[in-house]
Amino acid sequence: MPTPVNVTVTGAAGQIGYALLFRIASGQLLGPDVPVRLRLLEITPALKAAEGTAMELEDCAFDLLSGIDITDDLKTAFDGTNVALLVGARPRSAGMERGDLLEANGGIFGPQGKAINDHAAGDVRVLVVGNPANTNALIAQQHAPDVPADRFTAMTRLDHNRALSQLSAKLGVPVGTIEKMTIWGNHSATQYPDLYTAQVNGRSAAEQVEESWLKDTFIPTVAKRGAAIIEARGASSAASAANAAVDHVHDWVNGTDWTSSSVVSDGSYGVPEGLICSFPCRSVDGAWQIIQGVEINEFSRGKIDASVQELTDERDAVRQLGLI
Ligand code: NAI
Repeated sequence: MPTPVNVTVTGAAGQIGYALLFRIASGQLLGPDVPVRLRLLEITPALKAAEGTAMELEDCAFDLLSGIDITDDLKTAFDGTNVALLVGARPRSAGMERGDLLEANGGIFGPQGKAINDHAAGDVRVLVVGNPANTNALIAQQHAPDVPADRFTAMTRLDHNRALSQLSAKLGVPVGTIEKMTIWGNHSATQYPDLYTAQVNGRSAAEQVEESWLKDTFIPTVAKRGAAIIEARGASSAASAANAAVDHVHDWVNGTDWTSSSVVSDGSYGVPEGLICSFPCRSVDGAWQIIQGVEINEFSRGKIDASVQELTDERDAVRQLGLI
C-alpha cells in the first residue's frame, strides 16, 4: 500500500463536510488507488459532531481510508498535510456589514494560512471553499510566504458545473458535448459565465442560443443559483458544492485540458497580478496554468472588468483592515 495522502478538511462537521468526506474516503478525490488519511478541523463546540461523522466514516469500511484525526488545533490539522480543503468559514449574519464579514474571515484564514506555511507538506495544495472564497484564499496565501503562491486556489467549479448544466438543458445536449466553458472573476453574483468561449459540438455556444437568453437568463441564473437553492431547500448548496470541490482537486492532481479555477493572477487578461480570480485553466503535471489566447469581446470585457473590480475592492478592504 502506498503512503497515505493527508487530506485536511476544515468545517468538517458542517453540511459540505458531511457531503465531502465520504467522497474523499471512497477514492473520488485523488483516485481509486490512493489511500488517504483524513484530518478534520473544527471549532471546539463542533468537535463532537465531527466525531459523529467520523464514526459514520468508519462504518463505511472504506478500503482507502487509513485513519481519521479530529482536532481544533491548527498545527495538528495541517501537520504534513498534502491537500487542504478550507470549507469552514464565518457566514454573514443579519445586519453584518461587508467589512465585519471580511474581518471575521480574516481571523480564520490568516491563521490557517500561517499554519499551512509552517506545518504542511512541501507539495501542499489548498482549495478554499468557504466564502468569500476568493478573498479568503488571498488572505491565507498572504500568510504563507514559503508556499508557492500558485498552490492557493478558490472554488468556482460549482459555478462552472452550474453553467454546463444550464447550457446542456437549453440545447438538449449531453454535458459531455460542451467544451471550453469558462467562469471569470469572483465567486459571487458578479461572476461572468462566458458562453462566447464555450463550444458545443465544435461550434460557439453563444451562436446556438438567443442573445436575450444568454444575457437575461443564463448569466443571472448561474450567478444567482446559490440563492435559488437556499430558497428551495431552506439550506445552502452542500452536495453540489462538495461535488465541485472533488472535481476541482481531482482535476488539479490528475490533469485536465479546460475548466474554471480561481488561481493567483499573473496579470493575464488584464487581471491585476496577485488577485485570486477565476480563469479558464488547464492542469498539467499537477499545476494549474491559465489558458492564454482566449478571445474576449466587448460584452465579456465589461463583465470581467466588473467582477475583477469587486475582487480588487475586497483586496483593498482586507488590506485596510490589516488582514494582509
Ligand atoms: P455550515 O455552516 O454547515 O458548516 C460550516 C462549518 O465550519 C461548521 O461546522 C463550523 O463549526 C465550521 N467552522 C467555522 N469556523 C471554523 C474554523 N475557524 N475552523 C474550522 N471550522 C470552522 O456551512 P456549509 O454549508 O458547510 O458551507 C461552508 C462554506 O462554504 C460557507 O462559507 C459557504 O458560504 C461556502 N460555500 C461555497 C461555495 C463555493 O462555490 N465556493 C458553495 C457553497 C457554499
